[in-house]
Amino acid sequence: MIRVAAVGDLHVGPDSAGALREQLGAVHEKADVLLIAGDLTKSGEPEEAEALARELRGLSVQVVAVLGNHDHHADRPAEVAGLLREAGVAVLEGDAVRIDTPAGSLGVAGVKGFGGGFSGASGAEFGEPEMKAFIRHTKERSEALESALATLETDVRIALLHYAPVRETLLGEPPEIFPFLGSYLLAEAVDRSGADLVIHGHAHRGTEHGVTPGGVNVRNVAQTVIRQAYAIYGFETTGRGEPATAGEGSRDGQGRGSRDGRGSRDAAKSAPASER
Ligand SMILES: [Fe+2]
Ligand SMILES: [Fe+2]
Repeated sequence: MIRVAAVGDLHVGPDSAGALREQLGAVHEKADVLLIAGDLTKSGEPEEAEALARELRGLSVQVVAVLGNHDHHADRPAEVAGLLREAGVAVLEGDAVRIDTPAGSLGVAGVKGFGGGFSGASGAEFGEPEMKAFIRHTKERSEALESALATLETDVRIALLHYAPVRETLLGEPPEIFPFLGSYLLAEAVDRSGADLVIHGHAHRGTEHGVTPGGVNVRNVAQTVIRQAYAIYGFETTGRGEPATAGEGSRDGQGRGSRDGRGSRDAAKSAPASER
């Protein structure tokens, strides 16, 4: 079985030193890879990325991540990604990585994604330049995801996002802010290229389980949603080079630690949508 650990919205700051190492240190005993679904840092400052890089450097599983909106806040996303890559993290944005495990090959395609809303209640590339730019960004990121997924010829394929592809995993958040939490265009991209699982974060008060219209399982792994250090999803394969036989991500509730002090549900309640 290919075992995938996943968590999002770590929101690491310089003061987080040590806490993550304790939570993630034994991840290699439970998983073949660790996926981080964006909002790695509190505000995208290089010092925060350095603090996270120090925590991740010693892990003995491959770490794969996408950036989130918080990692863009200081307008230094390239520096944030560069510091993490120096620590061995595969930071994806419109590309993919292959990881060979004893149970078969795993491919992860990643993009940050963006907002816009969901079918029947979404923004359109129409009107003011700002509105056009907003939706155009979502379209571009969705197209990049579709292309990256299409390059993968692995036993298991995972789409790693920050923003949500379906509204189901946002349930618990105020519906008024759904357009700032994700876009149906991401789900359409996944369904066109195919995947075994979609992982995302960003919706701190959302719901773990969802599914795309095409039947691909979606999991919101924001740490405040899964309430543990990471969730584990397992995939049975028929062997290297063969297609996966089980697309359903199983959850075993593993993972040390739990609700941390960085992002309680209560704190999330008062945060505006832009601060998810
Ligand atoms: Fe976010
Ligand atoms: Fe977040």
